[in-house]
Amino acid sequence: MKPITKAIIPVAGLGTRFYPATKVIAKEMLPVYDTPVIELIAREAVAAGITDIIFVISPAKQAIHQHFTPDPELEALLELRGKTEALGRIRAITDMARFHFRTQDVPLGDGHAILMARDLVEEDESVLVLFGDDLVDNVAGPNAAEQLLARHAETGASAILLTEVEREHTHMYGIVAMDDSGKISHIVEKPAPAAAPSCTAIVGKFVLTPTVWRNLMAEETPHLKQEVRLVDALTKSLTQEAVQGVVAEGIRFDTGDKQGFLAATMHWAGKVG
Ligand code: UTP
Repeated sequence: MKPITKAIIPVAGLGTRFYPATKVIAKEMLPVYDTPVIELIAREAVAAGITDIIFVISPAKQAIHQHFTPDPELEALLELRGKTEALGRIRAITDMARFHFRTQDVPLGDGHAILMARDLVEEDESVLVLFGDDLVDNVAGPNAAEQLLARHAETGASAILLTEVEREHTHMYGIVAMDDSGKISHIVEKPAPAAAPSCTAIVGKFVLTPTVWRNLMAEETPHLKQEVRLVDALTKSLTQEAVQGVVAEGIRFDTGDKQGFLAATMHWAGKVG
């Protein structure tokens, strides 16, 4: 099995939960203490051995493109002014991996965004997919991407990161039923608390095998009216391969939510401040 070297980060969503802050500014560019969320996610991928990161942005999110693209004029100015530390800090961003950009013109769902990267993925290749708003800090051990990649390396199957949520919050998540071996048997989208098969919820980090890719492509119709959702392709895959659930080790933050973002900011400030 080939090691996974590519990560797709779909970041073309509207970010409505964070309006009005994210009307103009991409939610992924909001700083968690001093670093944009999206840079923390890119670093997570790189720490897990990823060499190529594909961002799927919307036309309005050029700031993400700019953040990961070298700016020779700025670098020259910082050099001239002797701002060595600042220079090192911004070079570290653009040097960490090879970056690729694809555009999703209309927000037709997370699955549709992932499909925008298909020309960069081989037919037999598995990829890491990280959404632009979920952060996990596992201080002492492997990061969340490493946890997923390790399970994929053991099983060869797709893997979904999971976290335990309060039963009263199940209606906000995809909720899974899973056996002791970690194989997911079903996924229920946003169930009412009483109908939820568990309180184990899907977090926005995945390893996708070609099986899931094929299912994603099958969801796409020529005249899209409905969104293409990754969860539908994953659900279909459950009968085709032993899709793995990986309960995240570490603290998880949903930075697409105002309270979650604040909690992440306080947490990271405590780490580095
Ligand atoms: P979310 O469900 O968090 O949606 O998307 P959102 O639009 O970002 O935020 P809210 O719910 O309106 O506040 C999960 C991931 O999929 C991406 C998002 O950018 C995020 O990383 N996404 C979603 C796309 O790239 N395109 C889409 O059409 C939808």
